Amino acid sequence: MPAESDTGAVSLPGRILVVDDHEENVALIIRLLSRDGHVVEGASTGEEALRQIHSKPPDLVLLDVMMPGMDGFATCRELKRGLVTRLIPVVLITGLNDSAARIQGIEAGADDLLTKPFDPPELRARVQSLLRNKRLTDDLDSAASVMVSLALTIEARDAYTNGHCHRVATYAAALGRGLELDADDIGALERGGFIHDIGKIGIADAILLKPGGLTPDELAIVKRHTVIGDQLCTGLRSLTRVRPIVRHHHERCDGSGYPDALAGDAIPLLAQIIGIADTFDAATTERPYKEAVSFEEAARQLGQEVARGWRLARLVDTFNRLVSANQFPPVEQANQMSRP
Ligand SMILES: [Fe+2]
Repeated sequence: MPAESDTGAVSLPGRILVVDDHEENVALIIRLLSRDGHVVEGASTGEEALRQIHSKPPDLVLLDVMMPGMDGFATCRELKRGLVTRLIPVVLITGLNDSAARIQGIEAGADDLLTKPFDPPELRARVQSLLRNKRLTDDLDSAASVMVSLALTIEARDAYTNGHCHRVATYAAALGRGLELDADDIGALERGGFIHDIGKIGIADAILLKPGGLTPDELAIVKRHTVIGDQLCTGLRSLTRVRPIVRHHHERCDGSGYPDALAGDAIPLLAQIIGIADTFDAATTERPYKEAVSFEEAARQLGQEVARGWRLARLVDTFNRLVSANQFPPVEQANQMSRP
Protein backbone atom coordinates (compact mmCIF):
# COMPACT_ATOMS: atom_id res chain seq x y z
CA MET A 1 0.00 0.00 0.00
CA PRO A 2 1.60 3.35 -0.99
CA ALA A 3 2.46 5.48 2.05
CA GLU A 4 1.93 9.23 2.39
CA SER A 5 4.96 11.36 3.30
CA ASP A 6 4.99 14.43 5.57
CA THR A 7 4.60 16.63 2.51
CA GLY A 8 1.49 14.73 1.44
CA ALA A 9 3.21 13.17 -1.59
CA VAL A 10 2.34 9.52 -2.12
CA SER A 11 5.44 7.31 -2.16
CA LEU A 12 5.81 3.82 -3.58
CA PRO A 13 7.80 1.44 -1.38
CA GLY A 14 11.11 0.02 -2.56
CA ARG A 15 13.77 -2.44 -1.39
CA ILE A 16 16.67 -0.59 0.20
CA LEU A 17 20.02 -1.84 1.50
CA VAL A 18 21.83 0.23 4.15
CA VAL A 19 25.56 -0.46 4.47
CA ASP A 20 27.43 0.85 7.53
CA ASP A 21 29.81 -0.77 10.02
CA HIS A 22 28.09 1.13 12.86
CA GLU A 23 25.05 -0.90 13.79
CA GLU A 24 23.27 2.06 15.37
CA ASN A 25 23.42 4.01 12.07
CA VAL A 26 21.91 1.08 10.18
CA ALA A 27 19.16 0.71 12.80
CA LEU A 28 18.36 4.45 12.64
CA ILE A 29 17.97 4.49 8.84
CA ILE A 30 15.95 1.26 8.87
CA ARG A 31 13.58 2.80 11.42
CA LEU A 32 13.26 6.02 9.45
CA LEU A 33 12.66 4.55 6.01
CA SER A 34 10.48 1.65 7.16
CA ARG A 35 7.89 4.27 8.15
CA ASP A 36 7.47 5.10 4.44
CA GLY A 37 6.68 1.46 3.74
CA HIS A 38 10.11 0.55 2.32
CA VAL A 39 11.63 -2.86 2.96
CA VAL A 40 15.01 -1.97 4.44
CA GLU A 41 17.85 -4.40 5.14
CA GLY A 42 21.32 -3.82 6.56
CA ALA A 43 24.89 -4.95 5.88
CA SER A 44 27.98 -4.10 7.94
CA THR A 45 30.76 -4.38 5.30
CA GLY A 46 31.21 -3.69 1.59
CA GLU A 47 31.90 -7.37 0.93
CA GLU A 48 28.71 -8.46 2.71
CA ALA A 49 26.74 -5.79 0.79
CA LEU A 50 27.99 -7.08 -2.58
CA ARG A 51 26.99 -10.64 -1.66
CA GLN A 52 23.50 -9.52 -0.64
CA ILE A 53 23.07 -7.32 -3.72
CA HIS A 54 24.05 -10.15 -6.07
CA SER A 55 21.70 -12.66 -4.45
CA LYS A 56 18.76 -10.22 -4.11
CA PRO A 57 19.23 -6.91 -5.97
CA PRO A 58 17.68 -3.97 -4.08
CA ASP A 59 16.17 -0.83 -5.68
CA LEU A 60 18.59 1.48 -3.84
CA VAL A 61 21.81 1.25 -1.80
CA LEU A 62 22.77 3.68 0.97
CA LEU A 63 26.49 3.30 1.47
CA ASP A 64 28.69 4.71 4.21
CA VAL A 65 32.11 5.80 2.95
CA MET A 66 34.25 4.91 5.99
CA MET A 67 34.19 1.18 6.55
CA PRO A 68 36.94 -1.28 7.45
CA GLY A 69 38.03 -3.53 4.54
CA MET A 70 36.28 -2.56 1.33
CA ASP A 71 35.22 1.06 1.82
CA GLY A 72 32.20 2.82 0.31
CA PHE A 73 34.09 4.10 -2.75
CA ALA A 74 35.42 0.64 -3.68
CA THR A 75 31.99 -0.95 -3.11
CA CYS A 76 30.34 1.73 -5.26
CA ARG A 77 32.90 1.28 -8.05
CA GLU A 78 32.33 -2.47 -8.00
CA LEU A 79 28.56 -2.02 -8.27
CA LYS A 80 28.87 0.45 -11.13
CA ARG A 81 31.20 -1.94 -13.00
CA GLY A 82 28.79 -4.89 -12.89
CA LEU A 83 26.39 -5.38 -15.81
CA VAL A 84 23.57 -6.44 -13.52
CA THR A 85 24.19 -3.99 -10.67
CA ARG A 86 25.21 -0.76 -12.40
CA LEU A 87 21.64 0.53 -12.74
CA ILE A 88 20.99 0.29 -8.98
CA PRO A 89 21.18 3.84 -7.57
CA VAL A 90 23.86 4.32 -4.89
CA VAL A 91 23.82 7.11 -2.28
CA LEU A 92 27.20 7.61 -0.60
CA ILE A 93 27.11 8.96 2.95
CA THR A 94 30.15 11.12 3.71
CA GLY A 95 31.30 13.22 6.66
CA LEU A 96 30.29 16.88 6.79
CA ASN A 97 32.53 19.31 4.84
CA ASP A 98 34.60 16.48 3.41
CA SER A 99 34.86 17.87 -0.11
CA ALA A 100 37.63 15.45 -1.17
CA ALA A 101 35.35 12.53 -0.28
CA ARG A 102 32.49 14.10 -2.25
CA ILE A 103 34.65 14.38 -5.37
CA GLN A 104 35.87 10.81 -4.92
CA GLY A 105 32.25 9.70 -4.52
CA ILE A 106 31.28 11.29 -7.81
CA GLU A 107 34.28 9.66 -9.49
CA ALA A 108 33.23 6.29 -8.05
CA GLY A 109 29.90 6.68 -9.89
CA ALA A 110 27.62 7.47 -6.92
CA ASP A 111 24.17 8.72 -7.96
CA ASP A 112 23.82 10.99 -4.94
CA LEU A 113 25.76 12.10 -1.86
CA LEU A 114 24.51 12.79 1.64
CA THR A 115 26.44 14.28 4.52
CA LYS A 116 26.34 13.00 8.11
CA PRO A 117 24.57 13.81 10.32
CA PHE A 118 21.77 13.79 7.75
CA ASP A 119 18.47 15.58 7.88
CA PRO A 120 15.70 12.87 7.99
CA PRO A 121 13.22 14.70 5.66
CA GLU A 122 16.06 15.27 3.16
CA LEU A 123 17.06 11.59 3.27
CA ARG A 124 13.44 10.49 2.69
CA ALA A 125 13.00 12.94 -0.20
CA ARG A 126 16.26 11.83 -1.89
CA VAL A 127 15.28 8.18 -1.48
CA GLN A 128 11.90 8.85 -3.11
CA SER A 129 13.43 10.65 -6.03
CA LEU A 130 16.02 7.92 -6.69
CA LEU A 131 13.40 5.17 -6.42
CA ARG A 132 11.27 7.00 -9.02
CA ASN A 133 14.23 7.09 -11.40
CA LYS A 134 14.99 3.44 -10.71
CA ARG A 135 11.45 2.48 -11.74
CA LEU A 136 11.94 4.35 -14.99
CA THR A 137 15.15 2.44 -15.72
CA ASP A 138 13.40 -0.82 -14.82
CA ASP A 139 10.75 0.01 -17.43
CA LEU A 140 13.39 0.81 -20.02
CA ASP A 141 15.13 -2.42 -19.18
CA SER A 142 11.95 -4.42 -19.60
CA ALA A 143 11.46 -2.77 -23.03
CA ALA A 144 14.85 -4.20 -24.04
CA SER A 145 13.86 -7.59 -22.58
CA VAL A 146 10.69 -7.59 -24.70
CA MET A 147 12.85 -7.01 -27.79
CA VAL A 148 15.10 -9.94 -26.85
CA SER A 149 12.05 -12.22 -26.39
CA LEU A 150 10.69 -11.05 -29.73
CA ALA A 151 14.03 -11.78 -31.42
CA LEU A 152 14.05 -15.30 -29.97
CA THR A 153 10.49 -15.83 -31.21
CA ILE A 154 11.57 -14.83 -34.71
CA GLU A 155 14.54 -17.18 -34.46
CA ALA A 156 12.25 -20.04 -33.42
CA ARG A 157 10.44 -19.82 -36.80
CA ASP A 158 13.52 -21.22 -38.48
CA ALA A 159 14.81 -24.55 -37.17
CA TYR A 160 18.16 -23.97 -38.89
CA THR A 161 18.98 -20.81 -36.98
CA ASN A 162 18.18 -22.29 -33.55
CA GLY A 163 20.58 -20.84 -30.97
CA HIS A 164 22.05 -18.35 -33.48
CA CYS A 165 21.20 -15.23 -31.40
CA HIS A 166 22.72 -16.66 -28.23
CA ARG A 167 25.90 -17.77 -29.99
CA VAL A 168 26.34 -14.42 -31.76
CA ALA A 169 25.93 -12.67 -28.38
CA THR A 170 28.55 -15.00 -26.83
CA TYR A 171 31.08 -14.59 -29.67
CA ALA A 172 30.60 -10.81 -29.91
CA ALA A 173 30.92 -10.21 -26.15
CA ALA A 174 34.07 -12.37 -26.08
CA LEU A 175 35.59 -10.33 -28.92
CA GLY A 176 34.59 -7.12 -27.11
CA ARG A 177 36.40 -8.33 -23.99
CA GLY A 178 39.40 -9.35 -26.10
CA LEU A 179 39.51 -5.77 -27.41
CA GLU A 180 39.21 -4.48 -23.80
CA LEU A 181 35.98 -2.57 -24.45
CA ASP A 182 34.12 -1.17 -21.43
CA ALA A 183 31.16 -2.77 -19.65
CA ASP A 184 28.60 -0.62 -21.51
CA ASP A 185 29.93 -1.78 -24.87
CA ILE A 186 30.01 -5.43 -23.77
CA GLY A 187 26.39 -5.07 -22.60
CA ALA A 188 25.43 -3.57 -25.97
CA LEU A 189 27.17 -6.45 -27.79
CA GLU A 190 25.26 -9.02 -25.69
CA ARG A 191 21.94 -7.34 -26.43
CA GLY A 192 22.95 -6.69 -30.02
CA GLY A 193 23.79 -10.38 -30.45
CA PHE A 194 20.21 -11.21 -29.59
CA ILE A 195 18.37 -8.49 -31.46
CA HIS A 196 20.59 -7.68 -34.48
CA ASP A 197 18.12 -9.42 -36.83
CA ILE A 198 14.93 -8.20 -35.09
CA GLY A 199 13.87 -6.50 -38.35
CA LYS A 200 13.27 -9.96 -39.87
CA ILE A 201 9.88 -9.76 -38.20
CA GLY A 202 8.92 -7.51 -41.11
CA ILE A 203 10.00 -10.03 -43.78
CA ALA A 204 7.51 -12.64 -45.06
CA ASP A 205 8.21 -16.27 -44.09
CA ALA A 206 7.87 -17.26 -47.76
CA ILE A 207 11.06 -15.29 -48.47
CA LEU A 208 12.86 -15.69 -45.16
CA LEU A 209 12.45 -19.47 -45.00
CA LYS A 210 12.69 -20.12 -48.75
CA PRO A 211 15.03 -23.04 -49.42
CA GLY A 212 17.60 -22.39 -52.11
CA GLY A 213 18.67 -19.11 -53.65
CA LEU A 214 16.76 -15.83 -53.62
CA THR A 215 15.89 -13.71 -56.65
CA PRO A 216 17.46 -10.21 -56.74
CA ASP A 217 14.08 -8.72 -55.69
CA GLU A 218 13.78 -11.12 -52.76
CA LEU A 219 17.34 -10.38 -51.70
CA ALA A 220 16.57 -6.65 -51.69
CA ILE A 221 13.58 -7.36 -49.40
CA VAL A 222 15.70 -9.44 -46.99
CA LYS A 223 18.27 -6.63 -46.82
CA ARG A 224 15.57 -4.32 -45.50
CA HIS A 225 15.65 -6.20 -42.14
CA THR A 226 18.43 -3.81 -41.04
CA VAL A 227 16.33 -0.69 -41.61
CA ILE A 228 13.14 -2.23 -40.19
CA GLY A 229 15.07 -3.30 -37.07
CA ASP A 230 16.50 0.19 -36.67
CA GLN A 231 13.00 1.66 -36.82
CA LEU A 232 11.75 -0.84 -34.21
CA CYS A 233 14.44 0.35 -31.78
CA THR A 234 13.53 4.01 -32.22
CA GLY A 235 12.62 5.68 -28.95
CA LEU A 236 13.90 2.85 -26.72
CA ARG A 237 16.57 4.57 -24.68
CA SER A 238 17.95 1.33 -23.27
CA LEU A 239 18.76 0.31 -26.86
CA THR A 240 20.56 3.51 -27.85
CA ARG A 241 23.92 1.73 -28.09
CA VAL A 242 22.37 -1.29 -29.79
CA ARG A 243 20.60 0.56 -32.61
CA PRO A 244 23.74 1.15 -34.71
CA ILE A 245 24.44 -2.61 -34.46
CA VAL A 246 20.96 -3.45 -35.73
CA ARG A 247 21.26 -1.07 -38.69
CA HIS A 248 24.90 -1.57 -39.68
CA HIS A 249 25.86 -5.20 -38.98
CA HIS A 250 25.95 -5.97 -42.75
CA GLU A 251 28.15 -3.03 -43.76
CA ARG A 252 31.63 -3.80 -45.17
CA CYS A 253 34.81 -1.76 -44.77
CA ASP A 254 35.13 -1.26 -48.56
CA GLY A 255 31.62 0.23 -48.74
CA SER A 256 30.05 -2.77 -50.50
CA GLY A 257 27.69 -3.65 -47.63
CA TYR A 258 24.18 -2.49 -46.75
CA PRO A 259 21.94 -0.63 -45.94
CA ASP A 260 24.00 2.60 -46.12
CA ALA A 261 27.18 1.44 -47.93
CA LEU A 262 29.27 2.90 -45.10
CA ALA A 263 33.04 2.46 -45.43
CA GLY A 264 36.00 2.19 -43.04
CA ASP A 265 35.71 3.92 -39.70
CA ALA A 266 32.23 5.22 -40.56
CA ILE A 267 30.94 1.73 -39.66
CA PRO A 268 30.29 1.66 -35.90
CA LEU A 269 32.82 -0.62 -34.15
CA LEU A 270 30.15 -2.63 -32.32
CA ALA A 271 28.35 -3.29 -35.62
CA GLN A 272 31.62 -4.59 -37.13
CA ILE A 273 32.07 -6.92 -34.14
CA ILE A 274 28.55 -8.33 -34.49
CA GLY A 275 29.19 -8.72 -38.24
CA ILE A 276 32.19 -10.96 -37.50
CA ALA A 277 30.30 -13.01 -34.89
CA ASP A 278 27.28 -13.35 -37.23
CA THR A 279 29.40 -14.49 -40.19
CA PHE A 280 31.35 -16.96 -38.03
CA ASP A 281 28.14 -18.53 -36.70
CA ALA A 282 26.54 -18.71 -40.14
CA ALA A 283 29.65 -20.54 -41.43
CA THR A 284 29.88 -23.00 -38.52
CA THR A 285 26.22 -24.06 -38.55
CA GLU A 286 24.30 -26.09 -41.10
CA ARG A 287 21.78 -24.28 -43.33
CA PRO A 288 19.32 -25.72 -45.90
CA TYR A 289 21.72 -24.72 -48.67
CA LYS A 290 25.09 -25.64 -47.07
CA GLU A 291 27.01 -27.82 -44.64
CA ALA A 292 28.62 -26.45 -41.47
CA VAL A 293 32.37 -25.81 -41.67
CA SER A 294 34.85 -26.27 -38.77
CA PHE A 295 35.81 -23.36 -36.48
CA GLU A 296 39.27 -23.35 -38.09
CA GLU A 297 37.83 -23.11 -41.61
CA ALA A 298 35.44 -20.31 -40.55
CA ALA A 299 38.39 -18.40 -39.04
CA ARG A 300 40.26 -18.83 -42.36
CA GLN A 301 37.23 -17.51 -44.28
CA LEU A 302 37.13 -14.43 -42.01
CA GLY A 303 40.80 -13.90 -42.87
CA GLN A 304 39.86 -13.98 -46.57
CA GLU A 305 37.24 -11.29 -45.92
CA VAL A 306 39.98 -9.10 -44.43
CA ALA A 307 42.02 -9.62 -47.62
CA ARG A 308 38.98 -8.57 -49.71
CA GLY A 309 38.73 -5.34 -47.72
CA TRP A 310 35.45 -6.25 -46.01
CA ARG A 311 36.68 -6.45 -42.41
CA LEU A 312 39.25 -4.87 -40.14
CA ALA A 313 42.34 -7.07 -39.69
CA ARG A 314 42.71 -5.99 -36.04
CA LEU A 315 39.24 -7.28 -35.15
CA VAL A 316 39.45 -10.54 -37.10
CA ASP A 317 42.96 -11.28 -35.76
CA THR A 318 41.74 -10.86 -32.17
CA PHE A 319 38.66 -13.00 -32.89
CA ASN A 320 40.69 -15.74 -34.56
CA ARG A 321 43.10 -15.79 -31.62
CA LEU A 322 40.11 -16.53 -29.35
CA VAL A 323 39.02 -19.31 -31.74
CA SER A 324 42.53 -20.88 -31.75
CA ALA A 325 42.66 -20.66 -27.95
CA ASN A 326 39.42 -22.72 -27.81
CA GLN A 327 37.56 -19.89 -26.09
CA PHE A 328 34.22 -20.91 -27.61
CA PRO A 329 32.21 -24.03 -26.83
CA PRO A 330 31.23 -26.30 -29.75
CA VAL A 331 27.90 -25.24 -31.32
CA GLU A 332 25.85 -28.13 -29.84
CA GLN A 333 27.17 -27.35 -26.35
CA ALA A 334 26.54 -23.62 -26.75
CA ASN A 335 22.91 -24.41 -27.61
CA GLN A 336 22.45 -26.03 -24.22
CA MET A 337 23.71 -23.02 -22.30
CA SER A 338 21.03 -20.89 -20.66
CA ARG A 339 20.35 -17.45 -22.13
CA PRO A 340 21.24 -14.36 -20.07
FE1 LIG B 1 21.27 -9.57 -40.28
